[in-house]
Amino acid sequence: MTDRIAFVTGASQGIGRACALELARSGAHVFAAARQQDKLASLVDEIRAEGGRCDAVALDVTSGESIDAAFETVKQAGVVSILVNNAGITHDGLAVRMSLDNWQKVLDTNLTGGFVCIQKVLQGMMKQRWGRIINVASVVGLSGNAGQANYVSSKAGLIGLTKALALELGSRNITVNAVAPGFIETPMTDILPENVREQTLTRIPLRRLGRPEEIAKAVGFLAGDDASYITGQVLSVNGGMHM
Ligand SMILES: NC(=O)c1ccc[n+]([C@@H]2O[C@H](COP(=O)([O-])OP(=O)(O)OC[C@H]3O[C@@H](n4cnc5c(N)ncnc54)[C@H](OP(=O)(O)O)[C@@H]3O)[C@@H](O)[C@H]2O)c1
Repeated sequence: MTDRIAFVTGASQGIGRACALELARSGAHVFAAARQQDKLASLVDEIRAEGGRCDAVALDVTSGESIDAAFETVKQAGVVSILVNNAGITHDGLAVRMSLDNWQKVLDTNLTGGFVCIQKVLQGMMKQRWGRIINVASVVGLSGNAGQANYVSSKAGLIGLTKALALELGSRNITVNAVAPGFIETPMTDILPENVREQTLTRIPLRRLGRPEEIAKAVGFLAGDDASYITGQVLSVNGGMHM
């Protein structure tokens, strides 16, 4: 991937961080984007220490201005060939009590944020007739989950967006796929109570949580030339939790 620029959102920790490392190890010049600059700085150091190429970009995917500024910075380096839409949040709660604010925040970050980032890279990808868009969805976007109406809707929306864009962009040699992680060990799941973790484990045939690197491998595969004939797909990486 040495001639590729990759842009990873939510790269400051967890799955996004692992994706940035994976793509950099494959040779891509990675732009690692998120709000927490201190964490991005340590990622940049780690990648550069390995001889890879990485730059940090300040990005809040809920702000149009921030998205404009981030992609303006990257433009100076060239065309983004690989976009990984990974930034995501949860605000769980039963629908009956869910505030509109918590609904909106999750949709704005997980779905609209991804769409606006895609809009930013499309022209460049279309001109060069090569592009890879990978949306990080979730197992619950396929299965549903009680207490996560906002999150599930955002992830199911991301899967719909993936399919619509795969149809729209295939003729330009731009592939659009989603990766649907199961239960992965990251700061997002660290906060879950022990009984929830244990109960979840009983539903996973592989009897363990996934690691961020295991999601990053799937993202790296979809971003590379080996996945050139795959588009509009949802690649589940969930230990068999949902089939
Ligand atoms: N962990 C799991 O079990 C699991 C399962 C299925 C799907 N996923 C999905 O995988 C993705 C990564 O999850 P994770 O587990 O790695 O979560 P995480 O550890 O909480 O990391 C989330 C990342 O998203 C970034 N982010 C959040 N809001 C943002 C915003 N407004 N603008 C820019 N970046 C923002 C955060 O960066 P800053 O705070 O620095 O901005 C952080 O880097 C998410 O889309 C999540 O829904 C996770």
